[in-house]
Amino acid sequence: MKIVLCCTGTKPEPWVDGLRAALPGAEVAVWEPGAPAADYAVVWAPPQTLLDQQPQLKALFNIGAGVDGLLKLRLPPQALVVRLDDAGMSVQMAEYVCHAVIRHFREFDGYEADVRAGKWSYRKPRSRAEYPVGVMGLGVLGARVAQALRLFEFPVNGWSRTPRALEGVRTFAGAAQFDEFLAASRVLVNLLPLTHDTQAILSRNTLSRLLPGGYVINVARGAHLVDDDLLALLDEGHLAGATLDVFRTEPLPADHPFWTHPRITVTPHTSARTLRDESIAQIAGKILALERGEAIAGIVDPARGY
Ligand SMILES: NC(=O)c1ccc[n+]([C@@H]2O[C@H](COP(=O)([O-])OP(=O)(O)OC[C@H]3O[C@@H](n4cnc5c(N)ncnc54)[C@H](OP(=O)(O)O)[C@@H]3O)[C@@H](O)[C@H]2O)c1
Repeated sequence: MKIVLCCTGTKPEPWVDGLRAALPGAEVAVWEPGAPAADYAVVWAPPQTLLDQQPQLKALFNIGAGVDGLLKLRLPPQALVVRLDDAGMSVQMAEYVCHAVIRHFREFDGYEADVRAGKWSYRKPRSRAEYPVGVMGLGVLGARVAQALRLFEFPVNGWSRTPRALEGVRTFAGAAQFDEFLAASRVLVNLLPLTHDTQAILSRNTLSRLLPGGYVINVARGAHLVDDDLLALLDEGHLAGATLDVFRTEPLPADHPFWTHPRITVTPHTSARTLRDESIAQIAGKILALERGEAIAGIVDPARGY
């Protein structure tokens, strides 16, 4: 069995070594133009040339959960596209989102500023019941985030494309229930995949439906958000703030207003990182399952976009 690795922006050697250790007997190599035909490719943002030169691939393993970048390329029609299925990401995402929600709800940013100014002051405790959190996307990451928020007793709403039942979460589905979901939420967490249907979904039209003093946490993709609409709603006072981990252009350009906005917290696309060992173990397990003719989880439907 032959495996090629082509992960832009990632040091290849530890992945090659890890895959060789997990799949003894497999030939694992870093892809180069003109490389011999392989059975499987492990990729992140590969060039179109790889796909054009390897039309026989049985599967492409994306070393992230989001496949929006990969699906923009012309893929071998029979090749399965397989995304990372948690592999240690959901607990990181739960940490990040709970941290952002609690930091806002408990006004820790305000306390930090007070303490830096040498000020010992109290703020009136807020009512948790008045801070319902809406989670957009109830997949591998969104469901884990919704459950983690429940532990802190926030009312949690969830929205997905098809109806989902999650214990302790008020769920909504499809375009027909989107407005109702937004109107019931004060904090909005975006964990949707970036697809034709979801691009620019965080816009004036949708964000203005949140309860007044809304707070936006975008941890999915930058193209979900209409940047100027967020800035306008912050200036108008309808939104109280935002925590943003993903941006239309990454790294975020030096002159982008998000860097310095007093009510926006920026992090450098770090909310849920790909963990190498977990990812290699998952990919190797799936390759072995495919070789045995077994079904695997995490297969992307290119028509659906996720
Ligand atoms: N910032 C980071 O570090 C980071 C790290 C990892 C992933 N991500 C992002 O997080 C995204 C989600 O990952 P995941 O593993 O949770 O994905 P997933 O398991 O595929 O779940 C996607 C969820 O979104 C819902 N959805 C899709 N299209 C929709 C639509 N048009 N309307 C309403 N709901 C829709 C799906 O509904 P159904 O349940 O009905 O299918 C599902 O609940 C990824 O695509 C990636 O962009 C970001």
